[in-house]
Amino acid sequence: MESTNTFENNSNIIWSKGEITYEERCKHMKQKGLVIWFTGLSGSGKSTIAIKAENELIKQGKVVYRLDGDNLRYGLNSDLGFTQDDREENIRRISEVSALFKDAGIITLVSSISPYRKMREFARKKCGKDDFIEVYVKADIKTCIDRDPKGLYRKVIDGEIKNFTGISSPYEEPHNPELVLNTSKMTIEESVKEVLYLITNKM
Ligand code: ADX
Repeated sequence: MESTNTFENNSNIIWSKGEITYEERCKHMKQKGLVIWFTGLSGSGKSTIAIKAENELIKQGKVVYRLDGDNLRYGLNSDLGFTQDDREENIRRISEVSALFKDAGIITLVSSISPYRKMREFARKKCGKDDFIEVYVKADIKTCIDRDPKGLYRKVIDGEIKNFTGISSPYEEPHNPELVLNTSKMTIEESVKEVLYLITNKM
């Protein structure tokens, strides 16, 4: 992996270049690294689709790992809240981790609301545009409120949660995602099939 950080300009930090190339690592892994970035409102189906896709990829013998926004907020991002600055830092960290996973030759399934276009573009750049698939998991806010899988929309309505994406905090729809899954109309199986098709074409 080549450093893409401006931090490298700090003369006291020297990038440690290993002897194993990315190509050699991919050969060793019998696959190439890929980042599938699921973006969309809370309750749109990002994690559900990623979980099912992970199952199928494992059955195919692939090395795959899920980076779920909620899960990462338990540890790596536990110091962050839901202001714009914190969400940007959240996505910056997830992008950095995804780039490392990709470099390790792992198929990485990211599920994160990632509401800001500029930060998703940051992620794409970090991971390398040829190895990055942006999947817009699209469901209208009413569908998400009806589903309310975590009971959070209820809390928003009751005034217990502020700055909630799609209600009191913005969500910027992707302009050119590689894939749009309209989960108000499609079944989970149909969505997973489309994701797998795209991954297979990239491998
Ligand atoms: S992001 O906006 O910074 O990308 P991320 O995907 O990591 O968000 O985390 C979103 C998850 O946090 C949601 O799935 C939901 O479970 C929970 N959550 C708690 N408060 C909020 C909020 N104010 N807005 C959105 N999600 C929230």
